Amino acid sequence: MDDLRNKYLAAIADAGDEASLETLRVTAVGKKGEISLKMRELGKMTPDERQIAGPKLNALKDEINSALAAKKVALADAALDERLRGEWLDVTLPGRGAARGMGTIHPVSQVMDEVAAIFADMGFAVAEGPQVESDWYNFDALNIPGHHPARAEMDTFYMARSEGDNRPPHVLRTHTSPVQIRTMEAQGAPLRIIAPGRVYRADYDQTHTPMFHQIEGLAIDRDISMANLKWVLEEFFSVFFGLDGIKTRFRASHFPFTEPSAEVDIQCSWVDGQLRLGEGDGWLEVLGSGMVHPKVLQAAGVDPAAWQGFAFGMGIDRIAMLKYGIPDLRAFFDSDLRWLRHYGFSALDVPTLQGGLNG
Ligand code: DAH
Repeated sequence: MDDLRNKYLAAIADAGDEASLETLRVTAVGKKGEISLKMRELGKMTPDERQIAGPKLNALKDEINSALAAKKVALADAALDERLRGEWLDVTLPGRGAARGMGTIHPVSQVMDEVAAIFADMGFAVAEGPQVESDWYNFDALNIPGHHPARAEMDTFYMARSEGDNRPPHVLRTHTSPVQIRTMEAQGAPLRIIAPGRVYRADYDQTHTPMFHQIEGLAIDRDISMANLKWVLEEFFSVFFGLDGIKTRFRASHFPFTEPSAEVDIQCSWVDGQLRLGEGDGWLEVLGSGMVHPKVLQAAGVDPAAWQGFAFGMGIDRIAMLKYGIPDLRAFFDSDLRWLRHYGFSALDVPTLQGGLNG
């Protein structure tokens, strides 16, 4: 019995696949297998002999059956392991789509998002207006009448009128200021908005392109003052450039739509021909601003006796160049993929209120 046991357990342990295991099962415990034949011999034994041999044979049969079952599981596991090794997958391989290249966010879009996020924190909503604008919204309502020199200075693009139509032509808006009028008309006072978007002027050199971007700001309430304007702008520039307590300088100026008006500079210095913001005693002009002219409020249907507020207009491309060290404005709009890959932002980076980028 011990010989039988050793023989079969060793053979089971050595079995290399399920087929040889099945052959073993048949020869050992199958109907005509060796153990079954031995069982049959029990009949020829004396009752005493049977009492000893019977349970032993049954135990041996059970032992061999469990060894077969265990080996079957072990073989199946090994087969699975083998298959998994063969089907090994490198999940770190770049996808095939990557060969086509991922797009990037244009610095102007990125900066618009950053600016909107910072102003949103100060309670400013985003407003929009059309790029083809009427002469009324672009000029008259902003207190720039027909004869005003500002019209000539703006190098306006005029849209064509059909023959015989003598109304003033529409224009490509020369600034985002018309959105002030449209928003006040639509929402009344009080309000706090910024209006980012494209503007157009017939001008082209290293610092000017016929299309560029501005952000308009407007806050109207009962007692808004220039002090609020200064705080909001200093807060904005500090967060946007990630510089604590950046100083601004207000220089008296003139815009038809504000009274008083100021051009705003931010503190800077030049070290070895390199511009450094937020330090030193130099100044860099960044925007125009002022208290909204009563005539402008009136043109937009807001009572100047009850409401007042500040407005400002700032070039987005300019502050994008300053923040991200981009030298030539014209390259912004050349759609050169090499430039976009270099200066663009990953779509996975979200603007943060630190004004920087994640990751
Ligand atoms: N619209 C002006 C421009 O394009 C910029 C500007 C100046 C906007 C003063 C304002 C402002 O809202 O108050 O040159």
